[in-house]
Amino acid sequence: MQTILVTGGTGYIGSHTVVALLESGYKVVILDNLCNSSAKVVDRILKIAHPNAQLTFIEGDIRDTNKLDQLFKDHLFEGVIHFAGLKAVGQSVTHPITYYDNNVYGSLCLIQAMNTAKVKTIVFSSSATVYGEDAPVPYEESMPRGNTTNPYGTSKAMIEKILADQCIADNQWSVAQLRYFNPIGAHKSGLIGEDPKGIPNNLLPYITQVAIGKRKELSVFGVDYPTPDGTGIRDYIHVVDLAKGHLKALKKIQPTHNNPQEHRQGSGEHIWNLGTGQGYSVLEVICAFEKACGVIIPYATEPRRKGDLAAFWANANKARAELNWQAPLTLEHMVTDAWHWQQSNPQGYN
Ligand code: NAD
Ligand code: WQD
Repeated sequence: MQTILVTGGTGYIGSHTVVALLESGYKVVILDNLCNSSAKVVDRILKIAHPNAQLTFIEGDIRDTNKLDQLFKDHLFEGVIHFAGLKAVGQSVTHPITYYDNNVYGSLCLIQAMNTAKVKTIVFSSSATVYGEDAPVPYEESMPRGNTTNPYGTSKAMIEKILADQCIADNQWSVAQLRYFNPIGAHKSGLIGEDPKGIPNNLLPYITQVAIGKRKELSVFGVDYPTPDGTGIRDYIHVVDLAKGHLKALKKIQPTHNNPQEHRQGSGEHIWNLGTGQGYSVLEVICAFEKACGVIIPYATEPRRKGDLAAFWANANKARAELNWQAPLTLEHMVTDAWHWQQSNPQGYN
């Protein structure tokens, strides 16, 4: 049984990925400082996977280098999936030092501890945001890391570059840079899902909070984009499909101990877009939610949100060809599962 370290594993995407890992027979150790998640997630994960699943939760910060070194001494990790990070784009503009410290310095601490322990396999949570503001759509992995528009995006591009350079320096490193598009939805059990603190920044959690009566109406940011209905277009992906992509990527890059030739194929830097390849506008998402969930979402149109792009989506061919991974769950599944989670947990994990 292989053991995987999952940083940020009690968070939104991390928790769904831990379920997928446990269900596939991995042992998992979560390291999370709970700055944006709840320890209650651990019991929920076990309820879904199996009460006897091999899961250990350690509360701690990836910048705590002593704790990290001890962790790598206590466990024989076959690889790391690295979710831990701060992700609020607007907050990163007002608090850049916090973001570079947590995301970039934190990742460096992790990479250093891995190197010392000779654990050289990592799946990293990157983002479509690294393509920057000038990239043509659909985004392809061969495009350069672009002009990022905020410290959050820059922190992701910097971490990717650090990992890429480490692969050049040491050919035993295997790195998967997974560039997520817009993850939404929740596990179909309704036991785990997205639980934003305060006012949600993102579209789907805002919609579900309007639907449940926590917020009066949705603001639609921008109805004058050069898109068919004037609202922004994104590539929404079900979080469960996204989670499964991590397992495929991990398996692809893991060294096989008895076949050095295969190891060489898996090592080095790999970049994969994790998206569906299909974009939907804000109005289409509202409409899909209303239709699938039978709740009307009152909304007001507002000016464009600063920093937003008109439209982007993934070219998802590379992940399909190389990982044999696709995202089959539809927008209807995404909104239905998000609504089920919200209804089952009106106050999130509280
Ligand atoms: P999340 O906030 O729910 O999860 C992140 C987890 O990391 C949280 O549980 C938080 O407590 C933990 N964490 C943060 N800093 C830490 C630190 N220094 N030490 C230990 N734990 C720490 O976010 P998410 O949506 O699950 O995102 C996971 C990762 O995916 C993040 O790195 C994020 O930037 C990236 N990502 C997210 C999206 C998205 O839209 N959700 C899109 C692209 C990339
Ligand atoms: C989607 C669409 C908004 C809220 C962000 C990060 C990105 C990535 C995913 C981490 C846009 C519109 C939204 C609302 C609205 N995260 N909208 N009213 O901005 O595409 O991506 O999360 O890597 O880096 O920037 O996602 O869900 O905020 O917005 O009209 O209340 O919905 O303008 O067109 P975004 P989002």
